[in-house]
Amino acid sequence: MLDLLMKRRSIRKYKNREIEKEVLDKILQGVLTSPSSKNRRPWELIVVNNRENLIKLGDSRGPASAPIKNAPLAIVVAADSQNSEIWIEDSSIIATVIQIMAESLGLGSCWIQVRERLTPQNQSVEDYVKNILNIPEKYNIECMISLGYPDEEKSPHNNETLPYDKVHYNEFNTAK
Ligand SMILES: Cc1cc2nc3c(=O)[nH]c(=O)nc-3n(C[C@H](O)[C@H](O)[C@H](O)COP(=O)(O)O)c2cc1C
Repeated sequence: MLDLLMKRRSIRKYKNREIEKEVLDKILQGVLTSPSSKNRRPWELIVVNNRENLIKLGDSRGPASAPIKNAPLAIVVAADSQNSEIWIEDSSIIATVIQIMAESLGLGSCWIQVRERLTPQNQSVEDYVKNILNIPEKYNIECMISLGYPDEEKSPHNNETLPYDKVHYNEFNTAK
């Protein structure tokens, strides 16, 4: 697990290669174990592999969403905010598990933020995405995770440069 976490980086360029059904099925099996508050599982995952929609989603935020345009697949993480007032936490957990599962299967991924973001035309990205994917009104969207076989190499995290100063023992230590 530590090796996996050290190796995971945001990958924004993908090979022109489909993600096999068995690989996607494993990702889905893994992520559906995600913990959620009161086990409400308020999330809905929209798996998108239709090129036309991937391009539209990839255009939603200019360069910030561009990775989706060259990805063979993206998973949009939506949630029923009426079912859980802490849907943001539940959605963020499942989105993170998608990224870790992807890494474990040799795929690269990138989190593309949706919630609280605007399109270049100042429209809510959430509304833009809901409209493209026919997501009913009552759902909110946290993010989209682009997925694919990596077409860029990134150096793994380095233990020497991890922010250990963010860790506090027994009380908050302001001394740097
Ligand atoms: C909540 C969140 C929102 C992010 N939004 C975007 C985004 O909209 N577009 C993007 O290209 N990367 C996005 N990222 C990826 C971060 O830029 C990336 O995780 C960070 O720079 C650390 O790099 P690493 O993932 O390679 O370790 C987001 C990551 C998180 C956790």
